[in-house]
Amino acid sequence: MSANDCKNIRLSTAIILAAGEGTRMKSSIPKVLHNFCGKTFLQRVISNVRALNPNKTAVVVRHEAQKVSQAALSYYDAVQIVKQDEKPGTGRAVQCAVEFFGENGGLGNTVLITASDMPLLSADVLRALYAEHAESGNAATVLTAEVGNPFGYGRIIRNEDGSVAKIVEEADANDRQKAIREVNTSVYLFNAQALEYSISRLDSQNAQNEFYLTDALASANEFGRVGAYAAPDPLSVAGVNDRVQLCRLAKEHNLRICEQKMREGADIADPATTWIEEDVVIGPDAQILPGSFLKGKTVVGKSAVVGPYTTLIDATVDESAVVERSRVESAHIGANANIGPWTYLRPGSDLGENAKAGAFVEMKKAVIDEGSKVPHLSYIGDAHIGSKSNVGGGTITANYDGVHKSRTEIGSGVHIGAGNMLVAPVNVGNGVTTGAGSVVRKDINDNAMAYSENSQHTVENWKPVWERGE
Ligand code: UD1
Ligand code: CA
Repeated sequence: MSANDCKNIRLSTAIILAAGEGTRMKSSIPKVLHNFCGKTFLQRVISNVRALNPNKTAVVVRHEAQKVSQAALSYYDAVQIVKQDEKPGTGRAVQCAVEFFGENGGLGNTVLITASDMPLLSADVLRALYAEHAESGNAATVLTAEVGNPFGYGRIIRNEDGSVAKIVEEADANDRQKAIREVNTSVYLFNAQALEYSISRLDSQNAQNEFYLTDALASANEFGRVGAYAAPDPLSVAGVNDRVQLCRLAKEHNLRICEQKMREGADIADPATTWIEEDVVIGPDAQILPGSFLKGKTVVGKSAVVGPYTTLIDATVDESAVVERSRVESAHIGANANIGPWTYLRPGSDLGENAKAGAFVEMKKAVIDEGSKVPHLSYIGDAHIGSKSNVGGGTITANYDGVHKSRTEIGSGVHIGAGNMLVAPVNVGNGVTTGAGSVVRKDINDNAMAYSENSQHTVENWKPVWERGE
């Protein structure tokens, strides 16, 4: 079976271990809910496991059980929640899951067990592990990795025939064992009966007084062969126990995403300062300049220019648009449009082709049709501007009276003078011109000119009181 062939995978049950506190993170957030490049650890492991189509998927929880269960169900509503009791350790977590399935329809034939702190674990690695397990007929197969520095991991002790005799934890290892660089990744496939047999035999006679899941491998030997499959890329199975590891892995992951995007034709000036989440789509010849963050479901069209120092969250930037030093969230920017610098496009904004939102412009739920420009220092919220209109600098749509949000409708071919205050709800017809400094409270018909009285008073030869010598 090829690693990418999912058809022959018959996974009965997946058990995801997520009950640990993650003390080494020193965090009020449980480790599995920490964010890794836009998704939590738990979200990542659930989606990888689901790629193998298990009949049943359980998440074992204890620390912050409610938060973790809620999150798990939000990622996958068919997930089954198993509560670990007060007895500590990865082995206890699995005992609780095995007990749960004993009362809930059984484990089936093949069981995947995985920790949830390996953010780079991929479905491909899991498929390859499955292939190895299925072909070998092992009682259990553990996913391992050869690492440069094995400190902190459980070490794989192999028999002469290459099978796995046992796993020794760092805290329990002697110097000879500590020198072994093949480590346990905390991902296993078990024949269900071998799991039931070996998991019931655990004790907590070890340096950490915990029930180690790793000990189940030693007793699984009594049931059948225990094998290992070494992940070709150790990074893909690297565990995160603290924030230093989190940061290093995130950086590596980001670099890989940037490199992939570059191979697909994107021009990324500096991957070290550019962060791109994996679901982002970038067209060929798009330029992503330093200091930019592309997140969520962002799509950047071909030959668009993003950055420097730009954040796009769930944004759609069409072909050849330019977005410089700006923040764009759940908004659409049409082809050849020009945004920035220092522009904030908030959710629901939609700019047409060749539109412009210039320096220090904020927009919220603003629909700006083709060729219209809001070039300087303006706030446009809950508004629609037709095509080829121009809004003078310093113009504000007053859309909120303290209770209601109201809309401003501006037609096509309109010239709004500088410093206007458009008090919504208000409609400005097509072809309208307004004078500078107008406060527009009443609707304006097509092709009219409107200005509001704002008389100037001039005092000749005036001096401030402290200079008048009075
Ligand atoms: C574990 C392995 C170690 C392996 C390493 C890989 C054991 C005893 N050790 O150590 O061999 O090299 O992972 O990263 O299994 N969890 C529970 N209940 C608990 C404790 C932990 O569900 O009572 C969960 C955690 O949420 C986590 C996973 O199990 O997802 C692993 O726990 P962690 O404390 O990170 O184990 P390590 O010390 O890293
Ligand atoms: Ca770990």
